[in-house]
Amino acid sequence: MIGETKAGLDVSITGLGVHVPDRVITNDELSQWVDTSDEWIVTRTGIRERRFADKSEALSDVSLPACKDALEQAGADAKDVDLLIVATVTPDMAFPSTGAILADRLGARDAAAYDLSAGCTGFMYALAQAYGMLAGGLAKKALVVGGVLLSRILDFEDRSTLVLFGDGAGAVVLEVVGEQGFLGFELGADGGGGENLWLPGSGSRIFEGPDRYVKMNGREVFKFATRILVQSAEDVMRRCGVTIDDVDVYVPHQANVRIIDHATKKLGVPSEKVVINVDRYGNTSSGSIPLALADAAGDGRLKPGKLVLMTGMGAGLTWGSALIRWTA
Ligand SMILES: CC(C)(COP(=O)(O)OP(=O)(O)OC[C@H]1O[C@@H](n2cnc3c(N)ncnc32)[C@H](O)[C@@H]1OP(=O)(O)O)[C@@H](O)C(=O)NCCC(=O)NCCS
Repeated sequence: MIGETKAGLDVSITGLGVHVPDRVITNDELSQWVDTSDEWIVTRTGIRERRFADKSEALSDVSLPACKDALEQAGADAKDVDLLIVATVTPDMAFPSTGAILADRLGARDAAAYDLSAGCTGFMYALAQAYGMLAGGLAKKALVVGGVLLSRILDFEDRSTLVLFGDGAGAVVLEVVGEQGFLGFELGADGGGGENLWLPGSGSRIFEGPDRYVKMNGREVFKFATRILVQSAEDVMRRCGVTIDDVDVYVPHQANVRIIDHATKKLGVPSEKVVINVDRYGNTSSGSIPLALADAAGDGRLKPGKLVLMTGMGAGLTWGSALIRWTA
């Protein structure tokens, strides 16, 4: 799917909040559990530490402070939210949805609330859905959450996946505004590549053996990621009539610093425009882009008028890009 946002009402992000669990897990700590080292992890991935949630926490607990901060920044009241989407692969449980749980805890009584499954691309898919409902006049105020407790589905004996992921969440408020925010989206999926990054044993398909952890073909995912980050970004820019020189802030999915470096070079983005936080959080799946947006806001790069390019990719296999003129 690809499109410009010309047809509907102008929609933008008006508030942003993020939250990560307190517990920091360093590479040295991981190397006490599996045969790995800080040197290997930093060289191959750029990751230095990540957060793991406490056993008492679920995704809704980690997401709730992010939602509250996003609403506060937008100057919005939860009771006025009429759409709440949680993009995740680790909901509190299969049902009720984490969206419904969060709507209740926030007091968003009039909200349509649900979860969306698009792997690490979930935040981009959820943004596009919320955009569509707002631009079409179905909803007025949306809360879009991206987050995971990946630590819950990692095999603590598999060094090839354990070192890559972390827990965290981010939330944004979307509203109809008086100027153009979102310019366009490009989203895609290739289920044929799904078994390169998957969680067998987590649904109705019965598998032999204890397949309830993330399984990954790292090399195939690496090849896919380096190709799709560039392709999706170029497609959405072309459709919206902008070039990479017009982009002020580039926010790629935070999976691996080598993947980000590759995309950055191919796209021709100067390093000062690239947001990187995979070193501090690891890959937080659908939480990674909002967490990176918060970093860019924190260091002063994300200001009204700046053109932001976001690209996610992950399980599905899925991918998605958005261009937004920042208005918050
Ligand atoms: C996973 C990844 C970092 C591996 O890096 P790589 O340079 O491709 O490494 P390889 O898979 O070739 O493995 C090299 C060696 O390191 C070993 N290795 C794997 N994980 C290791 C770890 N944590 N510590 C130490 N050694 C490790 C492998 O067993 C292999 O050993 P061998 O040569 O004796 O078989 C890389 O493929 C990657 O980032 N893929 C994309 C993953 C991703 O982003 N997934 C999420 C997408 S949303």
